[in-house]
Amino acid sequence: MPRIVETIVTTVNADGQAHIAPLGLIEDGDGWIIAPFRPSRTLDNLMANPAAVASHPGDVRVFAGCVTGRRDWATTAADRVKGVRLADCVSHWELAVERITEDPQRPRFHCRLVHAASHAVWSGYNRAEAAVIELAVLSTRLSMLPPEKIDAELAYLDIAISKTAGPREREAWGWLMERVEAHRRGDAEAARKK
Ligand SMILES: Cc1cc2nc3c(=O)[nH]c(=O)nc-3n(C[C@H](O)[C@H](O)[C@H](O)COP(=O)(O)O)c2cc1C
Repeated sequence: MPRIVETIVTTVNADGQAHIAPLGLIEDGDGWIIAPFRPSRTLDNLMANPAAVASHPGDVRVFAGCVTGRRDWATTAADRVKGVRLADCVSHWELAVERITEDPQRPRFHCRLVHAASHAVWSGYNRAEAAVIELAVLSTRLSMLPPEKIDAELAYLDIAISKTAGPREREAWGWLMERVEAHRRGDAEAARKK
């Protein structure tokens, strides 16, 4: 399996309007592959403007926020490509799409790393921060998973939250659990919120 790095990807549409979404970037030699499932605004934007910025936030609330309808995170202009990065991030990569592997479900955008920059000292993620990222991913797959699997994953991840979460991770966990609870209630609209 290739290495995959969970990032916050920003893309812009033909009008220059930015869109923000968490995506796992797949290592591909010196470059990275962005692989959005259809339908996706990230995919539409990459077709309209073949560039992306991948930000690495220290605050994992960005991952949880983006998948629970909270996408209003401050951004600032990218240095080399048309687009924006997270204003508050440890580092970021600027990517140019070089070629596309078409696929009816999940096309792959092969990107060249145009520019990388650091903005803060990286202090690492603790277990609760890793658990928030895991639950953020899980929250986008609820409709594909059996209830027992969701319950088992939650029980495990909750150990890391109860032992190591600070206020930011607790807030992020709360947003994500609202989405899980909506799914359990059968509230499809709220459970899809992203
Ligand atoms: C950590 C993380 C990684 C994700 N990676 C991917 C991915 O590689 N491809 C994808 O289609 N969705 C991924 N998702 C789900 C997308 O973020 C979510 O569906 C998103 O809204 C994409 O659709 P959009 O471009 O229309 O916003 C990921 C979610 C999280 C929390």
